[in-house]
Amino acid sequence: MKLGVNLDHIATIRQARGGVEPNPLKAAEICLALGADYIVMHLRSDRRHIQETDLKNLAKTARGKIHLEMSATKEMVDFALSIKCGSVCLVPEFPNELTTTGGLNLSKRNILPITRAIKSLQKKGIKVSLFIDPDPTSVRAAKRMGADIVEICTRAYSEAKNEISRLEELERIDMATILAKELNLEVHSGHGLNYENVKDIAAINGMEALNIGHSIISRAVFCGLPQALLDMKLLIGVK
Ligand code: PXP
Repeated sequence: MKLGVNLDHIATIRQARGGVEPNPLKAAEICLALGADYIVMHLRSDRRHIQETDLKNLAKTARGKIHLEMSATKEMVDFALSIKCGSVCLVPEFPNELTTTGGLNLSKRNILPITRAIKSLQKKGIKVSLFIDPDPTSVRAAKRMGADIVEICTRAYSEAKNEISRLEELERIDMATILAKELNLEVHSGHGLNYENVKDIAAINGMEALNIGHSIISRAVFCGLPQALLDMKLLIGVK
């Protein structure tokens, strides 16, 4: 199991004052030194947290360890190509949303821009993940479109109101993982995973990486980033 640590909210705190602290680069250094497998940053079109300079600076020392979340626009693809990050996760983005709300809509209307983005990125050696909901139609569409990875959205799982819904959502993620593995896709998952709900997702056969941000940064506020990271690694069984 790999762990990708999303550092968007280090930048959120910095942007609250418009200064330089806390520095996401320092956080990335700590996470990578303590065994995070890669760093996740979402460059949003409104630049509410991570900025281009964060990614350009991180690319100087850890280019291959950057997993860049972005929408499938030409502007974002050009930026990803310019920093030559290790991998990209294409996500849907809507104005005024608090955070990513779910997987990509892979219906006919959206296929062309997403497929174009996948091809341009892969041509330069960047692996491409598609953030999808845990349903077989999306998994199959991701495969047809040429993705290397699917990241299964765990939002419904993490927000389940009772144990029955939680188990239903877990089953959907499990089934989507089985199908994705049959189709030779690498499988990640993320969104809303925390210290209470992560273990069952980490235990899914075929799950290869978890991308986690908010809960780790929230815990770090009280006990420090190294401890928050180590606590998560212990739960998900990262060596
Ligand atoms: N994966 C994707 C595609 C996301 O958009 C997000 C949220 O930015 C995450 C993982 C991490 O979610 P969280 O911050 O809730 O751990």
